[in-house]
Amino acid sequence: MQKEAFLRIHGGFRLEGEVFAGGGKNAALAILSAAILTEELCVIENLPMIDDIFAMRDILQVLGAKVEFSKNVMRIEARTLRAHAVPDALAHKLRASYYFLGALLGRTQEGIVPFPGGCAIGSRLMDQHIKGFEALGAHVYEDSEGISVKASSLRGSVVYLDIPSVGATINTMLAAVLAAGSTEIVNAGKEPHIVDLANFLNAMGASVRGAGTDTIRIKGVPKLHGCSYAVIPDQIETGTLMIAAAATGGDVLIRGALPTHMEALTAKLLEIGVRVDDTGTGEDSIRIRSEGRPRRVNFKTQPYPGFPTDLQQPMTALLSVADGVSVIQETIFESRFRHLEELRRMGGKFTVKDRIAVIEGVEHLTGCPVTATDLRAGAALVIAGLMAQGVTEVHDIHYIDRGYEFIERKLNALGAKIERLERIGPLEIAAGD
Ligand code: EPU
Repeated sequence: MQKEAFLRIHGGFRLEGEVFAGGGKNAALAILSAAILTEELCVIENLPMIDDIFAMRDILQVLGAKVEFSKNVMRIEARTLRAHAVPDALAHKLRASYYFLGALLGRTQEGIVPFPGGCAIGSRLMDQHIKGFEALGAHVYEDSEGISVKASSLRGSVVYLDIPSVGATINTMLAAVLAAGSTEIVNAGKEPHIVDLANFLNAMGASVRGAGTDTIRIKGVPKLHGCSYAVIPDQIETGTLMIAAAATGGDVLIRGALPTHMEALTAKLLEIGVRVDDTGTGEDSIRIRSEGRPRRVNFKTQPYPGFPTDLQQPMTALLSVADGVSVIQETIFESRFRHLEELRRMGGKFTVKDRIAVIEGVEHLTGCPVTATDLRAGAALVIAGLMAQGVTEVHDIHYIDRGYEFIERKLNALGAKIERLERIGPLEIAAGD
């Protein structure tokens, strides 16, 4: 019989206490694919135990790598690869399956990846990835099955990206580190996960400079070696926890979080009246303190260091109860306001035209059954449930489990009251871990 897991959130509990930021999903996805660029053992630490990472493990195994994964550490040894194609079912599980195009191209000069899955938040084109591969000398074929890349040899080149795409920057880096000669990626993405990938590649013996700026310079090397590496803290999980703390009038210390990655969100939280500090001890941490109703604020999503699109949805949940009208412009993904339909069912007041949402803050939200439409939409609905009066049920939480390691555990440890339940036909039971 079909089982459906869902979260039941009893609203109105203030979050208080300390919590640790987990390892970065989007950094980890890039780093795990990069591990096949060497025959030697890579030990990757601080991985979140989430569905996207389990899917990456499965892809690595299908390609022929020996993989062990437990307690947030994955050991990957890709001594020989037996396949250069990612199977359909795995590719469709997540967006980042397409990083194996760049990684396979770098390692074996050929790769096939069916069109990747991931959240349906916009058209998510791949023209810039293809531009990067072609600039390095690869032939790229697209058909209804997916994308194939092949090269007799790869040589460094200048790649000018029309937009600073995270995925295209990462895929070009993966393909270029073992290419002959030098590559320059101009108008590159500057996200923390791109810098983390560069640090990992350098720990493997690559020569990648300038990550975190507009231009990344890569000198190709003939071979990479194994290494041990710990992934950076998750910028978006940290942001989600910051917003959740602010939304409940809470007082929460997030340990292991990097304040420099959070500046865009911090600036907006300060504007709406939330206190954001570090501990003053030099330790990586962020303390959030809030009371009373948040003030309204406007913002626009932008590539890093601008306000991240991945936090737009959680932030709009918080602003749904702000004092006044907030105007939010989503410039990265054209379909990233679908969660507002669900928030409307909880009493939120919104109008959306093109990529602009106008949020008229209401006094309070009211719990009801809602459905996650993508990963960060799910996080937004959990935050709404924490703030709402009464009980909220969030369905389709498989989206949330792709990117948050048991979100309810961290929130419950801070005082939230969230149950993970399974519905089997008409029966409801508490879901085990
Ligand atoms: N784009 C193109 N052509 C391309 C590539 C991208 O037009 O070749 C467009 C996209 O359609 C989109 C914009 O450029 O409108 C930005 O896309 P980008 O490539 O930067 O994003 P991505 O690599 O698909 C990653 C994250 C997303 C995050 C975005 C933006 C991973 C696996 N995914 O996606 O994360 O929203 O960057 O920061 O790293 C999430 O974690 O919930 C998530 C969706």
